Amino acid sequence: MAGLSFGRLFAALWAWREGVARTRRLVVQRAPVSTVISMQHRAKPARGGNGPSPTLTFFRQWLKNPLSVAALAPSGKQLARLMVRELPKTAQRVVELGGGTGVFTQAMLDHGIAPQHLLVVELNEELHKFLQNQFSGVTVVCGDACQLPALVKHASFDTEGSVDAVVSGLGLLSMPRTLQRDILQAAFAVLGAEGRMIQFTYGPVSPVPRETLDELGLTVRRGGFAWWNIPPASVFVYQRSRSRPITPVRAGERSGS
Ligand SMILES: C[S@@+](CC[C@H](N)C(=O)[O-])C[C@H]1O[C@@H](n2cnc3c(N)ncnc32)[C@H](O)[C@@H]1O
Repeated sequence: MAGLSFGRLFAALWAWREGVARTRRLVVQRAPVSTVISMQHRAKPARGGNGPSPTLTFFRQWLKNPLSVAALAPSGKQLARLMVRELPKTAQRVVELGGGTGVFTQAMLDHGIAPQHLLVVELNEELHKFLQNQFSGVTVVCGDACQLPALVKHASFDTEGSVDAVVSGLGLLSMPRTLQRDILQAAFAVLGAEGRMIQFTYGPVSPVPRETLDELGLTVRRGGFAWWNIPPASVFVYQRSRSRPITPVRAGERSGS
């Protein structure tokens, strides 16, 4: 019964999303021919070709792990654009946490982040496999964001210096505070002094409580709001506070251990 109603809800959301996408395509077709979209690195086509549908793959994993996957469907392109907009102008080396089916990965490649300068971390084995198939040239690791310093080291992603930004698609809002703190700490352990963590959340409020930010010496500012996302989502940007920077931890070290 529950499965049936979830199925109906999903079908309705999917139909609505497809409708929005179709309307957007019609609008784009009317754009002047001089509008050139530069695609630096395209994912292999997942729909219409032999690959599985990202939306169905994601939904299946949500059915198996609702808490960890934390969303019924992948993020929309509007949210991906707002996330990428928050990257530092000079960003080169980026880590993505919770890649899902790669909506943010693709947006970052389109933005000009070189595949070899992008490391994607995904905990779910099926989604990890999906990402690996879709994004050849990008390092995609199957692992826990809490272990980011060790993952970065293991993937030899630390050999060319620190990371400029961490783009997080994790469902921080549904995580316990201690886990949120461990993830933020792991992210800032690999980020350079001016590095930032870009996080989205459903609704208008930062998912990280003030006490955690104070404990880690971080500040937060609000980015954009994606009305068309399902559900609508806000972007937040976390950075080290200038008055009390937190000390970077060397790869492999965990707090309190
Ligand atoms: C809300 S989904 C977002 C997926 C994708 N970024 C998007 O926006 O469509 C969260 C993703 O984080 C992954 N995830 C959850 N906990 C994780 C963890 N501790 N480390 C790495 N990935 C994790 C889930 O498997 C899922 O793919």
